[in-house]
Amino acid sequence: MINKINALLKEVENLKAANAEELEALRIKYLSKKGEISLLMNDFRNVAADQKREVGQHLNKLKEATQNRINELKASFENVQTTNDDIDLTRTSYPIELGTRHPLSLVKKEICDIFGRLGFSIAEGPEIEDDWHVFSSMNFAEDHPARDMQDTFFIDNNTEVSHNVVLRTHTSSVQSRVMESTQPPIRVLCPGRVYRNEAISYRAHAFFHQVEALYVDRNVSFTDLKQALLLFAREMFGEDTKIRLRPSYFPFTEPSAEMDISCNICGGKGCPFCKHTGWVEILGCGMVDPNVLELNGIDSKIYSGYALGMGIERITNLKYQVKDLRMFSENDVRFLRPVSY
Ligand code: DAH
Repeated sequence: MINKINALLKEVENLKAANAEELEALRIKYLSKKGEISLLMNDFRNVAADQKREVGQHLNKLKEATQNRINELKASFENVQTTNDDIDLTRTSYPIELGTRHPLSLVKKEICDIFGRLGFSIAEGPEIEDDWHVFSSMNFAEDHPARDMQDTFFIDNNTEVSHNVVLRTHTSSVQSRVMESTQPPIRVLCPGRVYRNEAISYRAHAFFHQVEALYVDRNVSFTDLKQALLLFAREMFGEDTKIRLRPSYFPFTEPSAEMDISCNICGGKGCPFCKHTGWVEILGCGMVDPNVLELNGIDSKIYSGYALGMGIERITNLKYQVKDLRMFSENDVRFLRPVSY
């Protein structure tokens, strides 16, 4: 091995490159992860213990010499005088920084990964939707307050059009889109942006993001729902997280529930974040109302299902303690940068 190292040492000391591309090719050949020197480093593991010291010293010398030679060649290019014509004065003067993922994208990905491991696949639907998919097919009564102008952005309220066009107020509309075109078994996850006519403040925005899950098959029971919820809470917020289900009401589920998790900031002892209750609400869920199955072309005598929906901003707040919802859409790099991979 020492002979091989010495031969390489001779080779690198005489390296030559005519331009930056050639130099880069040399760097890759010798110093990259799969380069000659890394290969030798791998072989080093098999060197007998009593020879490790000597071989190691040679290897380090080779690595240093290669790096030095490459730096030398690089410096020789950089010192070459360029004419003014070669200089791009419009280029940014500082190294351009790598971007980071938006916190909401990170959390969305985490939610999708967890449910992905439970066999859910992603389904998407339009943000500009019709009344049928957002409300009627989801069992909202004709006079349900959610249809009210206060909540919903209407795009086309022309009565001559057979259905009103709205900005979807929840991702539950994608449930309907999936069910009308697919027969069970259905196991989908629907992430996306939703809109509501709210005054913008630190705690409310006119648009935000949700993830919806829908599972429809034979014999799906509330136990299946609870098991999925518990697994999700533990994966997302840690092994010790506890869940609690409170009875609730949604037009599209029966029975319906809201899920709280033990406050992950104070560990359930009580703090200002959980209003000293030890619990924070994170999602709505329930068994898909048989009416919803029927309205979307699925036989409710054969099939049952569960559904759940959560706000991504809410989950992100819990993970990263973002106090002002507006931060998510302001694109302030000071806010975006710390949450990088
Ligand atoms: N669509 C509800 C909302 O926007 C959230 C929700 C609750 C979705 C219960 C569900 C569910 O699928 O089962 O507030």
